[in-house]
Amino acid sequence: EARAEDGASRFAFTEVEAGIDANHHVAEGYDADILLRWGDPLFADAPDFDPMTQTAEKQRRQFGYNNDYVGFIPLEDGSSEHGLLVVNHEYTNEHLMFPGIVKIAEGKITVSDADKERVDIEIAAHGGTIVEIRKADGKWQVVRDGAMNRRITADTEMQLTGPAAGHDRLKTAADPTGTKVLGTINNCAGGVTPWGTYMMAEENFHGYFMGELAADHPEAANYKRYGVPEGTYAWGQFYDRFDVSKGPNEPNRFGWMVEVDAMDPNSVPKKRTAMGRFKHEGAESIVSKDGRVVFYLGDDERFDYVYKFVTEGRFDPANKAANMDLLDKGTLYVAKFAEDGQLAWLPLVHGEGPLTAENGFASQADVVIETRRAGDLLEATKMDRPEDIQPNGSNGRVYVMLTNNTKRKAEQVDAANPRAENAFGHIIEIHEDGDDFAATKGTWEVLLKCGDPAVAEVGATFSSATTANGWFGMPDNCAVDAEGRLWVSTDGNSPKATGRTDGLWAVDTEGAARATSKLFYRVPVGAEMCGPLLLDDLETAFVAVQHPADGGEDWEGFGRPSYYEDLSTRWPDFNDAMPVRPSVVVITRQGGGKIAMA
Ligand code: FEO
Ligand code: CA
Ligand code: CA
Ligand code: CA
Repeated sequence: EARAEDGASRFAFTEVEAGIDANHHVAEGYDADILLRWGDPLFADAPDFDPMTQTAEKQRRQFGYNNDYVGFIPLEDGSSEHGLLVVNHEYTNEHLMFPGIVKIAEGKITVSDADKERVDIEIAAHGGTIVEIRKADGKWQVVRDGAMNRRITADTEMQLTGPAAGHDRLKTAADPTGTKVLGTINNCAGGVTPWGTYMMAEENFHGYFMGELAADHPEAANYKRYGVPEGTYAWGQFYDRFDVSKGPNEPNRFGWMVEVDAMDPNSVPKKRTAMGRFKHEGAESIVSKDGRVVFYLGDDERFDYVYKFVTEGRFDPANKAANMDLLDKGTLYVAKFAEDGQLAWLPLVHGEGPLTAENGFASQADVVIETRRAGDLLEATKMDRPEDIQPNGSNGRVYVMLTNNTKRKAEQVDAANPRAENAFGHIIEIHEDGDDFAATKGTWEVLLKCGDPAVAEVGATFSSATTANGWFGMPDNCAVDAEGRLWVSTDGNSPKATGRTDGLWAVDTEGAARATSKLFYRVPVGAEMCGPLLLDDLETAFVAVQHPADGGEDWEGFGRPSYYEDLSTRWPDFNDAMPVRPSVVVITRQGGGKIAMA
């Protein structure tokens, strides 16, 4: 191809200047419009958002907090103009949501004690949103009375299915069947299946549990491997199931992939235990050559693993009902990235290799409940925080976002995780054998080591055509568009480290332009970039701006500790009566047309 030889980028747009300020910025010639903000009413009779009188009851009828994954399910065959937007609400930031709860004493930031109504608002602001949207006269609108509009929260009834369903380790006082669980939490990235269901990943579930488990409790080692309990949230003060001393099996009911039939607002979401239990980042999928469906799964923790799940049954494009339980049977694999560039997918199957009763795995239920320990025994490759993983049907490749791992020591470096104290992360490209996504072998190479190429010791490998605006660190979510082009969004480009906010970058993967990156959109100060999604007609991109104005310890001089009254930005309303609000942004080309195409 001409473009491969001349080194020209496949992305045609004028790059945004990297930087940091109170607003968001998109490439010239594009509109970036706010589509949905935290608190926006989702039903005809839902109350308007009023931050001073918010209640859990209102929140259950409004868009949730910290939008992360964004997916689109067409309502007419293949439509890119009318469908359901499905959005994860990963977590809540109390200091940004509730006025006056942050205090500073002796230089330390403290948050006032939670009360039950606040916790109930948090629970209702978690989960996901399904909402009908429509494009009219070139602009997207929310359909407030959409028949499928739905809020899923951390209290919505769900069913556990697959090999661990009903197992003793999943039974609780409230649910002696071990099959009925309330809610989903920390839903980070996700996916839409080929049969049109919505996948929600349960990521950092450990933070929701408090209390102490006796050191000799049978689940003690299991919970230690997952960091349970961490006690970030106060929910356990009001709900016993989030206190491990009172509900010791409850953490085994989180850390799964959740499948939702978005077309039926009364459907019971299903936690698909066959896909393993870990800090699930996402579940992007593709139909393999023989019709089995392959899901790529990351476990976002330093030194944890890359997985894929291959269904046993085949996808039937003509019969949606026939696909609805495909995710209960299949093989879960963990990745071993060899030093010579070979890749092996190792099956996590009870009775095979070390996954036996002698090692504490009495059945496949134990294998999926303790997926990480099973991966440890198979000596899978310990990665630098696997995040979103995206297959690319146009070239048979798979892109793995590895966000960073500053704890990797020099003696722990390997070919697939080539940098010690990896502050900026990298992207691995997998090539499955024979372009077959269901293959159990493949090859891999590093597509990109991230960070500022102008700082030699960082060792970044962006192409020389990448400008000072075009480099990034901390790849997190990603998307492949209908042209097979890769888009990467980032989490953690704080100003102290990089002088720039997070954003959405267009990354060439082919020919001489490979590893060329360009900045298309950037977020306001303190925010993280989630989503992204480009619709099939390439005329619309959705991005999710998470936690604007948030300030970690890296944010001296910018973030301030986010007092409600003294935020570093009031995006997107810029109204003194409104807090910052995480929002889904829709990007279209002025006058219409395909995004980033000449
Ligand atoms: Fe929630 Fe791994 O990002
Ligand atoms: Ca993520
Ligand atoms: Ca993705
Ligand atoms: Ca993230």
